[in-house]
Amino acid sequence: MRDIFERITENKGPLGKWASQAEGYFVFPKLEGPISNRMKFQGKEVITWSINDYLGLANLPEIKKVDGEAALKYGAAFPMGARMMSGHTEDHEELERQLAEFVHKESAYLLNFGYQGILSAIDALVSKDDIIVYDVDSHACIIDGVRLHMGKRFTFKHNDIESLEKNLTRATKMAEQTGGGILVISEGVFGMRGEQGKLKEIVALKKKFNFRLMVDDAHGFGTLGKTGAGAGEEQGVQDDIDVYFATFAKSMAGIGAFLAADKEIIDYLKYNLRSQMFAKSLPMIYVKGALKRLDMLRTMPELKTKLWENVNALQNGLKERGFDIGNTSSCVTPVYLSGSVPEAMALVRDLRENYGIFCSIVVYPVIPKGMILLRMIPTTSHTMEDIKVTLNAFSAIRERLENGTYKRLSAAVIAAMGE
Ligand SMILES: Cc1ncc(COP(=O)(O)O)c(C=O)c1O
Repeated sequence: MRDIFERITENKGPLGKWASQAEGYFVFPKLEGPISNRMKFQGKEVITWSINDYLGLANLPEIKKVDGEAALKYGAAFPMGARMMSGHTEDHEELERQLAEFVHKESAYLLNFGYQGILSAIDALVSKDDIIVYDVDSHACIIDGVRLHMGKRFTFKHNDIESLEKNLTRATKMAEQTGGGILVISEGVFGMRGEQGKLKEIVALKKKFNFRLMVDDAHGFGTLGKTGAGAGEEQGVQDDIDVYFATFAKSMAGIGAFLAADKEIIDYLKYNLRSQMFAKSLPMIYVKGALKRLDMLRTMPELKTKLWENVNALQNGLKERGFDIGNTSSCVTPVYLSGSVPEAMALVRDLRENYGIFCSIVVYPVIPKGMILLRMIPTTSHTMEDIKVTLNAFSAIRERLENGTYKRLSAAVIAAMGE
């Protein structure tokens, strides 16, 4: 018999195996100073392109005032206990009413964390006879939620409606045998590559197939749609999303999340969502803070206007300079380059150390071998100067990538990281 600790210390997992080379720099970096367009990394100022504070709310004095006042009044704990038992307040209900209204749904229910909330929602919505059909590139929380499902599941090719249709045909045949139904899950915006889920096309399939649609709109909420209600509103199909999800971790610059749907569905979830039934309720600091943030989303459309000025300036600037930014149709801005993992590391080090630019990097095995993805998140707090500096830096690093500088440097980089 084996000791499980022996196994996990021998094999640290697909990301953990890079820890000794990457930790503190490429992973678990410490960004310091107030959350903004410019923060400190290892003592130096960097332009930060890796923070999902889309509307620049995180550090606004009026937001911090509300957070601080709530902390003073309630402490970090209130209310204690799960919503169902002792952790319920008028403010939780008020926030739910306002969130539902904001995303044009009848009712909403708060979640402590989006991740657990989605897991639990998938678990609560389907029985073993039901079939889940979901996009193969879904966020980990959807994948893990589907793992809880005791029945059949099918993936469809990323954002591929033909593949979805094929899988809906299979799922329909299967559901006829099991007597169950079908849940389709997509994201409103795919957070890595920035493409919106093809919600309009998915919804159109409702004419042909019988299914319910759940949408994780973590990146769309607050950034897309006329009123900021997200990808469904942007594509004119918000009413056809049966279960809408968004987190407070991005546009709302907080913690927490919510589900929104018809009242009878939310009423069901309130009594069946294990992540909320068996966990302490969202603390008042976050509830009061979310009420304030939501009020700003609603009453200050200029925040979203400025965000999109920045998004357009960055994305158009990159395109004009010939960069491949894929098919993004959201604020998420990917830049695809070709190179090995060591080259990518040398490039990122160059960007941070010599150009003062901090952005996330994604490499194999998350994306195909030989590809480098620099993922940028423009926000309302970025300036045109930030964008200009960044575009110039990107042109410079592309030249160095293409002339082999990073190939030569990468051996030295690996040696330095091993120190
Ligand atoms: C697409 C998507 N879904 C869900 C989540 C999880 O939300 P939370 O951070 O509230 O757990 C995230 C990350 O924040 C996300 O990007």
